[in-house]
Amino acid sequence: MCGIVGYVGSRNCVPIILEGLKRLEYRGYDSAGIALVKDGLFSIDKKAGKVADLVQHLSHYNGSLSAQLGMGHTRWATHGEPNDINAHPHWDSEEKIAVIHNGIIENYSTIKTKLVREGHVFRSATDTEVLAHLIEEMYKRTQNLASAVRHALAEVEGTYGLVVLSTHESDRMIAARKGSPLIIGVGDGENFVASDAAAIVDHTRQVIYMKDGEVAEITATNIRTMTIDDEDTEREIEEITFELSQIERGGYDHFMLKEIHEQPETITNAMRGRLQVDEGTVVLGGLRDVQDKLLKARRIVITACGTSWHAGLVGEYLFEEIARIPTEVEYASEFRYRNPIINSDDVVFLISQSGETADTLAAGREAKQKGATVLGIVNVVGSTIARESHGGVYVHAGPEIGVASTKAFTSQLTVLSLITLMIARAKGTITEKHAQVLSQELAAIPEKVSRILAKTTEQIKEIAEEFRNAQNFLYLGRGANFPVALEGALKLKEISYIHAEGYPAAEMKHGPIALIDENMPVVFVVPKDGIYEKVISNLQEVKARRGRIIAVANEDDHEIEELADFVIRVPRTYGYFGPIVNIIPLQLLSYYMAVARGTNVDQPRNLAKSVTVE
Ligand code: AGP
Ligand code: GLU
Repeated sequence: MCGIVGYVGSRNCVPIILEGLKRLEYRGYDSAGIALVKDGLFSIDKKAGKVADLVQHLSHYNGSLSAQLGMGHTRWATHGEPNDINAHPHWDSEEKIAVIHNGIIENYSTIKTKLVREGHVFRSATDTEVLAHLIEEMYKRTQNLASAVRHALAEVEGTYGLVVLSTHESDRMIAARKGSPLIIGVGDGENFVASDAAAIVDHTRQVIYMKDGEVAEITATNIRTMTIDDEDTEREIEEITFELSQIERGGYDHFMLKEIHEQPETITNAMRGRLQVDEGTVVLGGLRDVQDKLLKARRIVITACGTSWHAGLVGEYLFEEIARIPTEVEYASEFRYRNPIINSDDVVFLISQSGETADTLAAGREAKQKGATVLGIVNVVGSTIARESHGGVYVHAGPEIGVASTKAFTSQLTVLSLITLMIARAKGTITEKHAQVLSQELAAIPEKVSRILAKTTEQIKEIAEEFRNAQNFLYLGRGANFPVALEGALKLKEISYIHAEGYPAAEMKHGPIALIDENMPVVFVVPKDGIYEKVISNLQEVKARRGRIIAVANEDDHEIEELADFVIRVPRTYGYFGPIVNIIPLQLLSYYMAVARGTNVDQPRNLAKSVTVE
């Protein structure tokens, strides 16, 4: 998920690497490090904090630091808090092999146990470090670095973009890619590796986009790409045509759009190494120590702010319907001041993308002080809410740069679904067969999201153009799609500055219906679920008053065309997992409305990404 820069050639690589890491800062990260190989020796420096902190730390070399082979990394922690020790590069026992890595090693715990038994001593709490020690073991057998990396990766499950350096072979970099982008920059008498073209575009526009499953052996004058089975692969050198600003957003016009399109991958990452689809079971390491408290909980309280609060509302449906635990959801800003009745057999979930939201943090402290078990559902590893909770689950959405939350929301919903499944299986509130069906439903969601992104974008652009001058919007949904209506309305408010309200569809009769006329666009989230007919009745009430209707409806719903002015199609999804899919068109609608209105999509006026003040 974060930044990689590698260099081999005749120039001093230190400024090249540090400048490259600075070009990757926009992606968000929590620590940085650099490894250099010179005269058969390693130097590794790494620091929690910003690249500037690393540069400051390197100043003690008084400018004498130079090497022709090196690599740098900016880390977005997934396993192990952000600190100096957990920063990359990581090296092996003998300090002869160093690794930097983007991604998640799913089976790191199994590998680590085996290596510790073989006498390896680990320094960090990261998943990545197992790679260095595993390659060390393989190198003992192969006496060849590229071969050692290939053999090590054959034992690894998960995702990686990685670079390996070694004093055993101090004229080359070994790079490997599986599920996390990596490119090779082709220079004249020098070559580069980077996770993102932004890091090397100043030095070369000739690049090789590595493919999943590929390994590359790179010296100053030669590049060999191969499969993990050591079969040569085609090397296609392409020209970078993007300008730097475009590259930083991965070719998208805004970070928000990039993050909306990352969701098939980020939803997959939220489940990675946790959901065993065939068995219908879920393993959540961060809840292991509190599982008993969770299963015996008399009540669950979910407290959060904004989009995270909307995720909590969906969580209430999941926990009550499937895990059968009484659940209530509270705004953190209200919860913290109302002297809530909390007991030691309550479990309080704090949902927070940033893990730093002041109201949510204070609500957690209040609940903890009253004896509850406090658990975090957080995106930023090592954030304050994560550290102060008794346990929790990271959502692994990667850095969310756009102020309006999108991928973090769907990852929060995915994690809530996993927690629900775990509890329900352990408590027996669902059968094994039902759990297997639900697991298959969850596993099928990333592909459904991809389908929506591919098939509805052009239509939604047209709808946004049609309504770009609307002054108000109403969003309606029922059941677990009521929070979807709320979230859709918030997205529109936040980035297009149009007033929008989310409401339970049936509640419209109790007041908001007075707003309906030909100038009021009304968005209905109306999947074919158990209350479909009820929502259709509400939709007809709006139509009767000339309201203009945009419906998010299932692909096989043919009745809806008669009633709605615009129909955005989404695949059917099991009831309470539906919000993960149904929100996607509303994210796109708010994005294209904002673009049509020329507002600042990634940094909307008045908003902060993390509200760390009351
Ligand atoms: C969501 O688009 C907003 N940026 C905002 O409502 C946000 O969800 C809220 O501030 C909570 O932030 P957190 O998830 O980092 O705690
Ligand atoms: N999983 C690794 C870690 O937590 C790499 C994280 C990243 O992609 O930056 O250190």
